[in-house]
Amino acid sequence: MFHSSEAFASTRSESVPAPPKNEAPRIELPESTGAAFGKAPLLARHDLHDSALFSDDSLIELLDRHPRDFVYAIATGGDPAREENRLAAHDGVSGRELLAAVRRGRFWLNVTRVNGDATFRALIDQLYGELAKAVPGFRPQKTQGSLLVSSPRAVVYLHADAPPNVLWQVRGRKKIWIYPALDERFLPRADLEDILASARHEYLPYRAEFDAHATCYDLGPGDLVTFPQNAPHRVTNLDSLNVALSTEHFTAQSRARIRVYCANRFLRIRFGLSRLSTRETGPGALAKVVLHRAARAVGLESDPAAAKKWVPTLRVCADAPAGAVDISI
Ligand SMILES: [Fe+2]
Repeated sequence: MFHSSEAFASTRSESVPAPPKNEAPRIELPESTGAAFGKAPLLARHDLHDSALFSDDSLIELLDRHPRDFVYAIATGGDPAREENRLAAHDGVSGRELLAAVRRGRFWLNVTRVNGDATFRALIDQLYGELAKAVPGFRPQKTQGSLLVSSPRAVVYLHADAPPNVLWQVRGRKKIWIYPALDERFLPRADLEDILASARHEYLPYRAEFDAHATCYDLGPGDLVTFPQNAPHRVTNLDSLNVALSTEHFTAQSRARIRVYCANRFLRIRFGLSRLSTRETGPGALAKVVLHRAARAVGLESDPAAAKKWVPTLRVCADAPAGAVDISI
């Protein structure tokens, strides 16, 4: 079932040592990128696959030292149109076993908040330093990241993330489909408001006819992809274990969008006001955001994030054929 051990041997990540700490990773953006960065899907190159930071041994060390509460194991089905995400518990499972289970099964490990790890913090800072040098006017105010380790043929169902992000593919191959942002054919406005308010999960209904409007990339080691904030996207791994770094950045503009959509959501739910302007700047936007902030301060809005809880129904098990067993067994 697992075919990629040979593929690993052929990647440079297995044999080339990590670059010295003071050597910044290299990024090659198309010359035409300029102000289009973040405004349209973009495929570019990096050299993180040359770093031993993503070797099996390094991943195992990270899984053993990172707070386990920040690591999510999500089992998936194979049909992008039928969401079958299941959370798998992994307390007491070693990093080595976790990696073995991902190789064997069909799920992905989302190692969130790797920006809290000194090595990855430094790397993320370097990556955004290089991006800021290459992209005129790009000034992220805050950055964070997750490491994604996923099985051959694992699926990330159609979803929209709140902040803009960059996916740095390091090992394995996958396909990504990116759909137009702020287009209600793919993501109705009220659902985006709920996602930006953390009031619901990020997954969206998918239909095959959406693909006529998608930008699709085949990603391999050394590819990076970024796209407009909130653009719905989905991923299917090919026949190899995948390792990717997903970084998220917050800019003045991206934060303004989140604030306005959250204010619109409050006004929609509390006062029935729908189809409010989505302008992210100007006096109207400011008035709504100030009103929303004041309403929250006096308790007129309960914490929307309280609705978002997953319960594990599987337990990671490296010896099981699917890499996990039903939690009731
Ligand atoms: Fe995403």
